[in-house]
Amino acid sequence: MKKIFKKLFAKNRIDLIQQYLKVNDPSILEIGIHRGDFSKQLISKFNPKKLYLVDPWIAYDDFIYKNSWYGNSDKSNQKIQDKYYLDLLKYFEKKIYEKRVEVHRKTSDDFFLTNKNIFDLIYIDGNHLFEFVKRDIFNALKFIKEDGIIMLDDYALKGWWNDGITKAVNFHTKEKNIKIIKKHNIFDYHHQCLIQKI
Ligand SMILES: C[S@@+](CC[C@H](N)C(=O)[O-])C[C@H]1O[C@@H](n2cnc3c(N)ncnc32)[C@H](O)[C@@H]1O
Repeated sequence: MKKIFKKLFAKNRIDLIQQYLKVNDPSILEIGIHRGDFSKQLISKFNPKKLYLVDPWIAYDDFIYKNSWYGNSDKSNQKIQDKYYLDLLKYFEKKIYEKRVEVHRKTSDDFFLTNKNIFDLIYIDGNHLFEFVKRDIFNALKFIKEDGIIMLDDYALKGWWNDGITKAVNFHTKEKNIKIIKKHNIFDYHHQCLIQKI
């Protein structure tokens, strides 16, 4: 059943952003980069004034991350994470030189500690556990422009992260910190949630 709705009503993340991001040369922060597939799309579609990419590229030993993209169950994943990081630096070499892309190899918590920039779009796709997403939203609200957009991936999706994204959005909605402007449902199929500060 889910597959049928997906086939009929699937929307892609870039189209969704395009619908709401009305700035010509946006300043964009992406949290959680992995191999940079989405970062490459953000660059080619929105030609941002600057794109900030944040990911620690660490393979974590803790059991809870066993089924995540950054678990370390076979003890070889750190090498793979290092390669993802180096490949990304290579891919964006020219843009980094032109100061159009900044790559920060650190957690989002550490990034926000020293950040002084304000963003038009913040895409949250880092550690998916509730406490981490809750903090990412909390920090994003401090550094998003008044009419800027915060978008979260894997909303309304129960994986190893135990629906942490949905729970964090619910938390901030209840606290009246955010308003939801668009969220996944079976007729609007994308597993994204777009929020703005109240
Ligand atoms: C689902 S992947 C990101 C995928 C990417 N946004 C895309 O769409 O292609 C999640 C990433 O979050 C990173 N990550 C894990 N903990 C993090 C943290 N505390 N802060 C920032 N990124 C984190 C992982 O290393 C991993 O690369």
